Amino acid sequence: MTEHFEPMVIKDFTPMAGTTQWESPSNIALVKYWGKMGNQIPRNPSVSFTLQNCVTRTQIDWFEKKGNSSELDFYFEGKLKPSFGQRIQKLIATIAEQNTVLNQYSFRISSTNTFPHSSGIASSASAMSACAAGIIDMLRQIREAQDSNPWDEDYFKQQISFYSRLGSGSACRSIYPNAALWGEVSPDLGSNLWATPLDHLLHDDFRQYQDAIVIVDDSTKSVSSTMGHGLMNQHVFSKIRFEEGLRNTETMLNILRTGDISSFIDIVEREALQLHAMMMTSNPSYILIKPNTLAIIEKIRQYRQDSNVPLCFTLDAGPNVHILYPFAFRDKVKEFIETEIIELNPKMNWIADEMGLGTKQI
Ligand code: DP6
Repeated sequence: MTEHFEPMVIKDFTPMAGTTQWESPSNIALVKYWGKMGNQIPRNPSVSFTLQNCVTRTQIDWFEKKGNSSELDFYFEGKLKPSFGQRIQKLIATIAEQNTVLNQYSFRISSTNTFPHSSGIASSASAMSACAAGIIDMLRQIREAQDSNPWDEDYFKQQISFYSRLGSGSACRSIYPNAALWGEVSPDLGSNLWATPLDHLLHDDFRQYQDAIVIVDDSTKSVSSTMGHGLMNQHVFSKIRFEEGLRNTETMLNILRTGDISSFIDIVEREALQLHAMMMTSNPSYILIKPNTLAIIEKIRQYRQDSNVPLCFTLDAGPNVHILYPFAFRDKVKEFIETEIIELNPKMNWIADEMGLGTKQI
C-alpha cells in the first residue's frame, strides 16, 4: 500500500470546552512486532487478535488555555500520574504539529483499566489508543462545529491508528475488530503507518477466538519493550528475525483466511518463543519468562497431545501466558486451567478474554 498519509489539518477555531469518552482494548500479537526504526516504523509486519475484556476507558476534557502554556493533568484510577502524563503530552504535541488548534487548549485526562495495572498485560496499547481516539474525536467535534459534513468513518479510524502508533507501536492494531495487520507485507498489502483491518478475511473457525491470560507474575518488567526494541538494532539474529516476521505474517494471513488451525498453532507458538529467544540472545541478554511460564507451556503441549483440543500458547514481552483456543472448547479449557494450570501455583490468577470489536466511543 502506498505510504501516502492524508493528515487532518485543523488550525484555528474559537476555543470552547468539551468532553469525550473512549474505550480501547489490548491486543495479543500472533506474529510479533519486535524491532523498529525511524519514527515508529516496524522492522517487520505483525498480526494480532483484538481483545474484548482487557480495556482502558479514557475521558478527555478540554478547556480554553489560560496564559501561554497548555496544561495537561493525567489521572489514572483517580490519581494524578505525571509520568504517564508526559507520554500523553508528547502524543498531543505530535498531533498538534498538523492540528495547531490543539495548542489553544488545556486538558484533563482520566483513565481506568478493567485489568489490574500490575498484571503485566500490555497496557500501553489500550491506553495510547484510547487517548489517541479521544483527541482525534475532539478534532472531529471542532471540525464538525465549523463544517457540518461528517468525517468518513474509515478515515477517522485510520487517523486514530496512525497516531496510536506514534504513542506505542502495537497500539495501532487495537482500533479494529477481531484481527489486524500492521506493517507493509507487499506494495499493495499493509502499511507501516497504520494498521489494516483483517476482520473481513477471517475464516469462521477464527471467529470468537478465546484468550485465557494466566498471570504468572505481576511485578513490573525488568526491561521495557522500548529497550527491547532498541536491542534488536545490534542483534546478531536481527536480519533472520525480520525476514521470519515477514514470512510468518504472509503465512498467517493465509491461515486466517483458510481456517488452518494446526498451522496457526505452529506459527503462534514459534513466534512467541522466537520473541523470547531474541531477548535471551541480545547484548546485554535478559530473560523475562519464569519457571512457571515454561511449566505452563509444557502442560499446554501435553494436554493438546492427549486431548486433541487445539489450544496453543503465546507470550507478550513478559512471563504471562496467553492460551488461545476456539470458542467451542471453552468449558474443556476452563477445566484444564483450573485443574492443571492453577495447581502449579494456587496464587496465580487468570483472565478469560476473547476477540473484541476494537476502539469505541462510550
Ligand atoms: C512484544 O508496542 O509496547 O508486545 O512501540 O516501543 O511502545 P513501543 O512497543 P510496544 O511493543 C510490543 C511488543 C510485543 C509484540 C507485539 O505486540 O507485536
